[in-house]
Amino acid sequence: MTSELCLILLLLLPFPSHSADPDPLQDFCIADLKGTISANGFPCKLASNVTSDDFFFDGLSQEGSTNNSFGSSVTQGNVLAFPGLNTLGISMNRVDIAPGGLNPPHSHPRATESGIVVQGKLLVGLITTGNVFYSKNLTAGQMFVIPRGLVHFQLNVGQEKALIFTAFNSHLPGAVVLPLNLFASTASVPDNVLTKAFQVEQTVIDEIKSKFGG
Ligand SMILES: *[C@@H]1O[C@H](CO)[C@@H](O)[C@H](O)[C@H]1NC(C)=O
Ligand SMILES: *[C@@H]1O[C@H](CO)[C@@H](O)[C@H](O)[C@H]1NC(C)=O
Ligand SMILES: *[C@@H]1O[C@H](CO)[C@@H](O)[C@H](O)[C@H]1NC(C)=O
Repeated sequence: MTSELCLILLLLLPFPSHSADPDPLQDFCIADLKGTISANGFPCKLASNVTSDDFFFDGLSQEGSTNNSFGSSVTQGNVLAFPGLNTLGISMNRVDIAPGGLNPPHSHPRATESGIVVQGKLLVGLITTGNVFYSKNLTAGQMFVIPRGLVHFQLNVGQEKALIFTAFNSHLPGAVVLPLNLFASTASVPDNVLTKAFQVEQTVIDEIKSKFGG
């Protein structure tokens, strides 16, 4: 009897939340992107103004241009592009990568990522906070997971273009793209911070900054 009571009590305890974003407090809350942010997210569009279109998004149907120095393109399907995601704690991206192209090392501070390769052959790699590197070559139909906040990349190691769709447990996962974050910030990171951090001469920092318009 006592153990049954304990079990019932345990089951009644609130389960810890595993979602990255807070749970929604209503069926939906289509973001009013023009509204001033007054809470942890966007204010809701008036319910009487909501239409079917608010629940659908075709922004990931088009191939992104990979004609850039990385040879890759990330098309975001987050709350800013698809306001219907507001407060629901999920979003998706489309990643197009040309042969030899790279989605450069980056991290998502607010979400764990899962992804599925739709086309091509990619080396997907991640690095832990303990500086351990894990990687695998993936082809169509294969999935990967990137734990929240960890640095990761995708490199097209095949002969054809690659396509991935990724999913996040945040409506706005954010992305810290390491080369841009360190070498292309608005107000530059001081050169002596970068020479010291990477243990290189000023000329190396100048060269890297020049590649990113610095
Ligand atoms: C609702 O729709 C009307 C008419 O389209 C528009 O004028 C108004 O700003 C909308 N209000 C909100 C809160 O979205
Ligand atoms: C690629 O970009 C370069 C410079 O940004 C441009 O000159 C070139 O026409 C572009 N090529 C294609 C195929 O769009
Ligand atoms: C991935 O594939 C590339 C090209 O085929 C190969 O050079 C590389 O060793 C592979 N890496 C892993 C981790 O299997």
